[in-house]
Amino acid sequence: MIRVPHLVQYQGSKRSLAQRILAFCPRSVSRLVEPFAGTAAMSVAAAMQRRSRKFWLNDLNSPLIELLKLAINHPQELANSYADLWSQQESDSMSHYFRVRTEFNESHDPKLFLYLLARCVKGAVRYNSEGDFNQSPDKRRRGTRPETMRKNIEGVSQLLRGHCELTAWDYREVLEGVSPGDLVYLDPPYQGVCGRGDSRYLSGIEFDDFVLALEKLNQKGIAFLVSYDGQRGEKRFGQVLPKSLGLEHITLTAGRSSQATLLGRDEMTIESLYLSPSLCKQHPQKLIHLHLLLLGFS
Ligand SMILES: C[S@@+](CC[C@H](N)C(=O)[O-])C[C@H]1O[C@@H](n2cnc3c(N)ncnc32)[C@H](O)[C@@H]1O
Repeated sequence: MIRVPHLVQYQGSKRSLAQRILAFCPRSVSRLVEPFAGTAAMSVAAAMQRRSRKFWLNDLNSPLIELLKLAINHPQELANSYADLWSQQESDSMSHYFRVRTEFNESHDPKLFLYLLARCVKGAVRYNSEGDFNQSPDKRRRGTRPETMRKNIEGVSQLLRGHCELTAWDYREVLEGVSPGDLVYLDPPYQGVCGRGDSRYLSGIEFDDFVLALEKLNQKGIAFLVSYDGQRGEKRFGQVLPKSLGLEHITLTAGRSSQATLLGRDEMTIESLYLSPSLCKQHPQKLIHLHLLLLGFS
């Protein structure tokens, strides 16, 4: 199997689900838009399958977008700075991490952010009420080795360089700028675990605002997919999107929950994927076939 490059393990990344989500996308689109891009797992996977030559990557977290810009446009500069930071942790990696974290909170330098993301607990970003990054270092790992990081950065750059627009706006501004012909993939922060005022990510989103934004996309006839709610073991997370949006609801098994395994429970994580009416209209046969496959009938 061909390896899809990725910058870091990022909380909520769709890296492991990207291929299955892409199966519900048209073979070719004029532009793939990710208003909640994170580490751009879907765009990287789509670029690898040559499903689109143009991408719009947006995330409200501007150091993350600056990091993507550097990785895409100046891969060697980023890989060199990561190698330097990584090797400086030799003698006392904990205090080195905290020094880099303090410096990052003052400068918002994306090169420092990459090191923090690679080195922090589960790639899970955390912020205090002042918006300062306050996640702790992972005591068991030293972070991705520089040679592996370089390969990943170069891989992402080769796939996306010259094909990307990058912005750090609120998702609603991005949705104002999309048009029919675009395919929009929306992967907002999980509700419940990261509403507004939560320490995960830099901002949350309100359910009602989100539903309204999806209604507007429907009115404009835009094809889109949404990853939203789901289930871990018996426990549901997130509110189901309303029927009035006319979305096709698909469930994807995302695998065993590592959190639950740590606590000695064997629980599967199921994630919802919603397809817009405009997307379903473009590929009715393909969708029925995929549904049957998922249900084990084919
Ligand atoms: C679940 S993560 C996306 C993960 C991404 N699909 C990946 O594979 O890496 C959600 C992202 O939404 C971003 N975000 C939160 N509120 C936002 C907003 N109002 N507008 C745009 N992005 C936002 C967060 O910074 C976070 O990176």
